[in-house]
Amino acid sequence: MDNKDTDAEIHPLRSHDVKPVVNNEIVGDKNETYKKPNWLSRCRTAAFFASLFLCLIVVFAFSFIIPCPVRPYSQRTWIVQYNRARTYAFLAKEDVNQDNIQDMLFLIKVYAKDDLNVTCEDEGFQSPCFLLTALSGTNGSTLWSRFVAEDVQFVECGIHNLGGLESSCCIIVGIPDSVIAIDSQTGNVLWQNSTGFPSNAVFRNPLLKIPDVNGDDVQDLMIFVSLGAQLQSFILSGKDGECIGQNKSIGIASKDGHYIHSTVTGSHYVLMYAGSTMEAYSVRDLFSRSTNEESNPITLQTDPDWEGHTNLSTGYIPIVPISSSGDVRYLMKVPGKYYNNILVVKSEVSELLDGQTFHSLWSVNTTNILSKPALGNFKKDVLSIMMEVGSGNGRKKVIIIDSNSGTIQWEVEINLGSLNPSPATLNTGDHRSFFLFWGEASQDLNYTEEEI
Ligand SMILES: *[C@@H]1O[C@H](CO)[C@@H](O)[C@H](O)[C@H]1NC(C)=O
Ligand SMILES: *[C@@H]1O[C@H](CO)[C@@H](O)[C@H](O)[C@H]1NC(C)=O
Ligand SMILES: *[C@@H]1O[C@H](CO)[C@@H](O)[C@H](O)[C@H]1NC(C)=O
Ligand SMILES: *[C@@H]1O[C@H](CO)[C@@H](O)[C@H](O)[C@H]1NC(C)=O
Ligand SMILES: *[C@@H]1O[C@H](CO)[C@@H](O)[C@H](O)[C@H]1NC(C)=O
Ligand SMILES: *[C@@H]1O[C@H](CO)[C@@H](O)[C@H](O)[C@H]1NC(C)=O
Ligand SMILES: *[C@@H]1O[C@H](CO)[C@@H](O)[C@H](O)[C@H]1NC(C)=O
Repeated sequence: MDNKDTDAEIHPLRSHDVKPVVNNEIVGDKNETYKKPNWLSRCRTAAFFASLFLCLIVVFAFSFIIPCPVRPYSQRTWIVQYNRARTYAFLAKEDVNQDNIQDMLFLIKVYAKDDLNVTCEDEGFQSPCFLLTALSGTNGSTLWSRFVAEDVQFVECGIHNLGGLESSCCIIVGIPDSVIAIDSQTGNVLWQNSTGFPSNAVFRNPLLKIPDVNGDDVQDLMIFVSLGAQLQSFILSGKDGECIGQNKSIGIASKDGHYIHSTVTGSHYVLMYAGSTMEAYSVRDLFSRSTNEESNPITLQTDPDWEGHTNLSTGYIPIVPISSSGDVRYLMKVPGKYYNNILVVKSEVSELLDGQTFHSLWSVNTTNILSKPALGNFKKDVLSIMMEVGSGNGRKKVIIIDSNSGTIQWEVEINLGSLNPSPATLNTGDHRSFFLFWGEASQDLNYTEEEI
């Protein structure tokens, strides 16, 4: 079989009328044996040279004619120094200059004109004032910087779909009485307005992003401030910062914190917590309280599953976790299979509540919880929760819990360090995460490596 193939290969190179070499008849017939190649052979040669030529063109095009994409040269380390300035506890990372490398956004309080050739006074602020700065992640060069306020109550970056902008922006609530939205790619002011907060009001973290309520297709913002024991509400237009609604007394006592949850039907609820109690209010209800309007925008819906739990005499939905002991410290979103669940982190027992029915999915002992948990993938594509709980004698236990079952996947006990920053996670390209935590490693640190 093989021979047949090789024969077929060789055959066209031979002349058809090659005479079989018989005995001594070799001499003299040489010219006849190597006749000019026939048409098939010419085609082959042509095809060979044509493809060679094409290959060469491609090679030359890529090596000389088409320029390589210029990659930013990343420095391994860089230092930027600010004299006569103070830091503010805020750092965000975002790709500001679209070079696929994360850049830094942070606030500093500037005391005097220094290397900067603009001053607070130039921008209409009294010195010292706050400067929002974006530094290139590749080499630390300043991408933009802008004076934002004399004092800052709240800052958040990475807010999308504001002012009809595709890219993200930063919102700064300043003192006295200003709210400003800045395009994080250019540093330009998107909009700016006064908040109308009373002067002694305290901004309650976080700022809530709610569906569009004024029909301009841009999501809007809901803000709570506390004045003594009362909560006040403000609704600002995401498009231009205009105040859409404000109520000095929404009839809710000041709480320790709040959290926004979106149900499976896309209805939004604000969960307020204080001590061990949690109450949920629909954004639709809060909107009516803030604007005193009878008709609600169609973007604001209520969820039948949630509404079924409403206590009609109090007007809110009480959320009662299985273990009512301990105070609520944090509420966190934990994405489930079909919808988001709510992790209730309490000072004694933490539990994962089903985002639709409030059933407890699992609970874990978190007596002496030290910090806000962090989410990451300990195993590929399985969401895990990292928590730090104090175990006495200056030591802490770091545990990683499977978010589906609540089982502990990994744990380690280490000494508390002198500083205890919250744990963090970094996602890797292969759908897992690095889990970062701080502490003092002791000699007898015993860690177990698992097959993942
Ligand atoms: C600030 O300095 C830069 C160069 O360092 C210069 O291009 C710019 O014009 C200066 N701006 C002002 C307001 O002086
Ligand atoms: C720093 O990197 C940016 C790109 O990220 C580049 O445009 C700039 O020229 C670099 N500056 C210096 C001083 O290398
Ligand atoms: C601030 O908002 C008010 C309404 O709340 C509006 O009338 C005013 O034009 C806004 N100011 C600016 C500078 O956008
Ligand atoms: C503020 O909210 C309370 C409680 O819902 C309501 O009774 C009151 O009418 C609201 N005020 C305004 C100005 O909307
Ligand atoms: C509604 O809340 C009130 C006051 O907290 C309570 O006394 C009552 O039992 C609750 N009703 C229901 C049906 O849970
Ligand atoms: C939770 O853990 C603490 C020590 O970390 C322990 O003292 C306590 O008894 C535990 N609680 C429960 C309900 O297991
Ligand atoms: C480390 O832990 C493993 C299992 O958790 C145990 O078998 C081993 O003895 C421990 N080693 C030390 C030095 O404590």
